[in-house]
Amino acid sequence: MIEIISVVGARPQFIKAAMVSRALKEAGIGERLIHTGQHYDDNMSSIFFDELDIPAPDINLEVGSGSHARQTGEIMVRLEEHLLQNDRPDCVLVYGDTNTTAAAAVTARKLLIPVAHVEAGLRSFNMHMPEEINRIVTDRLSDFLFCPTQTACDHLKAEGLTDGISLTGDVMYDAVVHFSSTREPAGGRFPEGTYALATVHRAENTDDPDRLAGIIRGLGNVGIPVIFPVHPRTAVRLQGFGLPDNISVMEPLSYVQMLHAIKGAHRVFTDSGGIQKEAIWLETPCITLRDETEWVETLDRSWNVLVGADPAQIKSAMDVEPVAPPPVLCHIGEDSASSRIASILASA
Ligand code: UD1
Repeated sequence: MIEIISVVGARPQFIKAAMVSRALKEAGIGERLIHTGQHYDDNMSSIFFDELDIPAPDINLEVGSGSHARQTGEIMVRLEEHLLQNDRPDCVLVYGDTNTTAAAAVTARKLLIPVAHVEAGLRSFNMHMPEEINRIVTDRLSDFLFCPTQTACDHLKAEGLTDGISLTGDVMYDAVVHFSSTREPAGGRFPEGTYALATVHRAENTDDPDRLAGIIRGLGNVGIPVIFPVHPRTAVRLQGFGLPDNISVMEPLSYVQMLHAIKGAHRVFTDSGGIQKEAIWLETPCITLRDETEWVETLDRSWNVLVGADPAQIKSAMDVEPVAPPPVLCHIGEDSASSRIASILASA
């Protein structure tokens, strides 16, 4: 039997792993799950394991917070130790673009363990983003490059990568299909269509006081209540900020609560990659608080509008009406992306 080690550490990776782990099991692949501990608050981590029925991690490396170098380095040191002291897996599976992703890819590859990257080929072409650096490093080192979209495949080919590229579709879509139809959110729903939902966590927004102030000012002028579940990084930066009356700050939501909050919103404001796509899949127009997006397909027919951190653009984007139907972000047949990934790994 093939044995893989999946390495996760941050909120969106738990959601992706929830779907892929199920598919690996169905394909007869053994999996050990390693949590790096990059996200550690209950409402950023354990709530997802409980709600999404993810098996408890076999080990938690408990790296916690730190500078990029410290966090990445700690993951590498602790993961290397684990890989050297335990049975060698056939493959290390990593997700997305976090410090966890790049650290695990570098560590595994130097131990000559094949690396598989779910969500390969995404590019913002903005090298100021730590995520972009993590994506490039991870893709360059991966043996299996599982691309969610044709655009992602094209980026890899443009960088000269030719081997191991598969267009699999998007495991985040699998998760939306699975969890939006099967569960009611704990704590009930928000009143449909009457509010906007906002999330902000990218360093480019949270760590630049002018951008953060611009976003808050813009959200204060959108004319409807704004529900704002706050990432811990953003919570620290918002201390001392006067918030406009229409903004309701709250703790991070669980995944199922978030899906329902997106679905019921009049508009979604976000700098998250995942939420841009979830908005489209749940047919809620998205307004992205960034200057570019990796998910260019979402921009089709104004279902997603890029406004950066400019208060005037944030306000005026409320008047943009998307043209139905929402764009199809990736359409590649009946199988789920997760099962396609599992069957490629099973037959490798
Ligand atoms: C990370 C990823 C980003 C991903 C995001 C999802 C990197 C470089 N970035 O960003 O790609 O989209 O996760 O959320 O890996 N903190 C807590 N409690 C927690 C988690 C974080 O207090 O449970 C605080 C810490 O102070 C930390 C800060 O949030 O310094 C940022 O966390 P970090 O893990 O550095 O990155 P994210 O901003 O979450």
